[in-house]
Amino acid sequence: MSWPADVARVSIYGAGQLGSGVASLLRQRGEHAVDGPFGRDERERALGSGADVVLIATTTRLADVVDDIRRAVRAGSNVLVSAEETANPYLVDPALAAEVHDGAVAAGVTVLGAGLNPGLVFDALVLTVLGAAADDVDVSVSRTVDISGFGTPVLRRIGVGLTPTEFDEGVRAGEVLGHAGFPQSISIVGRARGIAVPSIEPSLAAVVTSEPLTLRDGREIAAGRTAGVDQTYRATRDGRTWYEARFRGHVDPASVGWALADVITLTRDGEVVQELTARPCFPAQSGSQHVLANSIDRVLAARPGWLNVADLPPAAWSGSAAS
Ligand SMILES: NC(=O)c1ccc[n+]([C@@H]2O[C@H](COP(=O)([O-])OP(=O)(O)OC[C@H]3O[C@@H](n4cnc5c(N)ncnc54)[C@H](OP(=O)(O)O)[C@@H]3O)[C@@H](O)[C@H]2O)c1
Repeated sequence: MSWPADVARVSIYGAGQLGSGVASLLRQRGEHAVDGPFGRDERERALGSGADVVLIATTTRLADVVDDIRRAVRAGSNVLVSAEETANPYLVDPALAAEVHDGAVAAGVTVLGAGLNPGLVFDALVLTVLGAAADDVDVSVSRTVDISGFGTPVLRRIGVGLTPTEFDEGVRAGEVLGHAGFPQSISIVGRARGIAVPSIEPSLAAVVTSEPLTLRDGREIAAGRTAGVDQTYRATRDGRTWYEARFRGHVDPASVGWALADVITLTRDGEVVQELTARPCFPAQSGSQHVLANSIDRVLAARPGWLNVADLPPAAWSGSAAS
């Protein structure tokens, strides 16, 4: 199919759930020319074509995606990345982030790490709410989500399907992360509050199932293995918690009595000032797919460099149907 010259071309690297889901969504809308999703064996086709936007939806860590980002930037493409650490790469490796930023500026393209979390619930949405709040409020965000739809590699990285001993060993080895990207979200909010490098205390607890669980797609988790995580990140300043982020993810939240919700609470001296609830929570898979699909136009319109979601307007579908 040939497309008019003014239609943006999007190339998708990563043929897992997210890459395939965004490709389907964009094709269904028919507003962008979509190439892919491509797997590892078609890396050069995915990254080197000079598409207007390259979406990299492969994995989590900056180190594992940075060469792919560089390749797409060299080809003159704007780059959207789902890897959680890329939401603020400066926290992970400031020199590397600055190098890629400079390369993007020189090439006149934008790099953005985004998704639902990080990318919306714990950062962009919080900043929007804080826009109407008094300067002295503290923030607490809690997300309780069904993670059963994630593929096995993502669940393993979160820490699901393991014995408690394997979970602890995985955490020590840096292979089990819980959900990743909270320091990135907190730093994005922190910057808006004048806190450049937040001091963050993480905690990550396994949730072990006492009953065997069968996921919708037939995967099984035996009794005595991890079926979820409960993690909290506390960002402090002068001994006070100014941002608490709590994430509870489970493959069968009802089995442990968890109700799905995203809750943003503003407090002053421990008293609730405002509370905003999304019930049920934004769904992990389709929510992330929409944030990324709805980020294509804002990335195309953005200034060059490695930006974060606080630098851009909200993800929004311009929608050819809307007039
Ligand atoms: N920010 C957010 O809100 C957000 C939301 C959703 C997902 N994510 C992240 O985005 C990533 C993709 O999610 P997903 O649900 O699509 O995962 P997935 O279903 O496991 O798919 C990942 C795909 O990428 C490939 N891949 C993995 N590592 C790669 C690498 N280093 N180079 C090239 N290809 C690689 C995998 O291929 P193989 O099968 O060959 O390994 C697989 O096809 C995950 O890390 C996830 O944590 C972030």
